[in-house]
Amino acid sequence: MESLYEKLGGEAAVNAAVELFYNKVLNDPHIQHFFEHTDMKRQRAMQKAFLTFAFGGVPSYGGRSLRDAHAPLVERGLNESHFDAVVEHLRQTLKELGVTDELTEEAVMFTNSVRDEVLGRGRQQ
Ligand code: HEM
Repeated sequence: MESLYEKLGGEAAVNAAVELFYNKVLNDPHIQHFFEHTDMKRQRAMQKAFLTFAFGGVPSYGGRSLRDAHAPLVERGLNESHFDAVVEHLRQTLKELGVTDELTEEAVMFTNSVRDEVLGRGRQQ
């Protein structure tokens, strides 16, 4: 069966979505400050990993768990509301790209499955 990642168009679709998504995230006053001291290369890596994950693909980033990668952000106050904002930008990006509501909800579901890990909640693995 075709995976969500494949249905959405695989890596080419992720690349197309990155530009739109990136602009939305960095222009949102509710979350942009988290990226203030992050260099461009890492910001891109984060956007790409985020979208690849949301698409149901396996992001290829070395070593660090999502929990570890975001622990410093949690210390700076990263919470539910910021995660929700990023999910909304994902939703809007997919809408603008003409993705169906059904596939969009699937992508949102995937993303929500790592919410606790990104926000540093629950049991440490
Ligand atoms: C599915 C959810 C998420 C995934 C898969 C994800 C993925 C990643 C990855 C792989 C990195 C490491 C990049 C690197 O070190 O080169 C990263 C860093 C980062 N993430 Fe996320 N992320 C998610 C959610 C979020 C959310 C909700 C925010 C908040 C606005 C966020 C903000 C950041 C920032 C600012 C960094 C850079 C930290 C630094 O400067 O080292 N991420 N993310």
